Amino acid sequence: MNILILGSGGREHAFAWKLSQSPNCDNLYIAPGNAGTSQIGTNLEIDIMDFEQVLKVVEKFDIEILLVGPEAPLVAGITDFFKAEKPSVQVIGPSKKGALLEGSKAFAKEFMKEYDIPTAQYLEVTEHNLQEGFERINNSKGPYVLKADGLAAGKGVLIIDQAEEAKRELKAMIEGKFGSASQTVVIEEFLDGIEFSVFILTDGQYYALLPIAKDYKRIGEKDTGPNTGGMGAVSPVPFVDRELLDKVRQKIILPTLSGLQDRQIDYEGFIFFGLINVGGEPYVIEYNCRMGDPETEVVLPRLENDLLDLFEALREQDLYEIPIDKKAGFATTMVLVSGGYPGSYEKGKEISNLTDFKESLIFHSGTKENHGKVVTNGGRVLALTSFGESIEDAIEQSKKLAQQINFEGKNYRKDIGFDLI
Ligand code: AMP
Ligand code: GLY
Repeated sequence: MNILILGSGGREHAFAWKLSQSPNCDNLYIAPGNAGTSQIGTNLEIDIMDFEQVLKVVEKFDIEILLVGPEAPLVAGITDFFKAEKPSVQVIGPSKKGALLEGSKAFAKEFMKEYDIPTAQYLEVTEHNLQEGFERINNSKGPYVLKADGLAAGKGVLIIDQAEEAKRELKAMIEGKFGSASQTVVIEEFLDGIEFSVFILTDGQYYALLPIAKDYKRIGEKDTGPNTGGMGAVSPVPFVDRELLDKVRQKIILPTLSGLQDRQIDYEGFIFFGLINVGGEPYVIEYNCRMGDPETEVVLPRLENDLLDLFEALREQDLYEIPIDKKAGFATTMVLVSGGYPGSYEKGKEISNLTDFKESLIFHSGTKENHGKVVTNGGRVLALTSFGESIEDAIEQSKKLAQQINFEGKNYRKDIGFDLI
């Protein structure tokens, strides 16, 4: 099989690492990739939002599987484009309609309401019912959760304690604070609980449940400070026991798939359920139409199945027949970030001591090669994944590595998994 992975982060490096282990993987390409993916496959310098360009390289390299890492090309309709232009290629990623689960919060909320999927109560607000939005805030108690409807690079969710400030922010959002993404805003009831991430690979009917994970989004220790793309992750998640998982299947996964079928929405790819456990009951915080980052950097290292076997089963609608084998113990990942991130930061810092470590896996996120050296090229730079009998053991291992690898401004959270121990 010739495979092309779209994206350039730690998630895509983890996919490349996993797929390259399959005996059926012939040629592996990553566009645009990073300094880590270039050690496993061939990086292609193309704009992944330019589907004609993607089609050109798919034809040139005889690509049979196109795995779409990030959400933007999916929300823009890359899967529909290939269905029309090159249907022989298996695209891992949903249709444009399916990607609305992530691309529009208002769509996702309305979908969950129709199919009785547990989620926070909400009100959809546009310029036409702004007054109703203010009243909703006046008549409820904080914290107030405001979500931009569209994609806003992970920044579109505001959680505000004071009603007056919430109303100001609501107005600012409707007036374009996040551009067209916030012309519609979802006001949500605040849910108090502990979050976790569930991933399935699905053909829209059958699914394989991948290892459960939890990510750590805040920049500061003990979950303080601003949100980031993700500072670390742990898999499995001890509080997600059989009973909770059973509720996730019955109340969330199955109704989501029935809803997609009911609406005749094509969906072949991953669904990432961002969930919250409120007193033993799972609620959906958000859907994503792709895998998570950095969750993928712990989920794939724990998956013992050949990922290409799963993609084949997806094609053949056989996913229900495949037992998912998981590595026992814990995998944790710790993300090294650039100084200043998630605010402004500098790029191009040389990374030293980036040798092979037997005990751990190093996934590159924002890195590139520059005259034979590896330099930083993003906010999140490297994800260091380690294994252990306990979360503490695994984290200890990543910490050693985090101390050895160096670049100017290096920052990381030392407390990944703190709330699970
Ligand atoms: P989202 O982009 O929808 O995942 O939201 C980003 C983060 O905001 C989530 O990971 C949660 O930590 C938080 N959040 C979103 N919605 C809610 C809610 N209804 N109640 C509490 N926290 C929320
Ligand atoms: N780690 C959360 C995400 O990928 O959206």
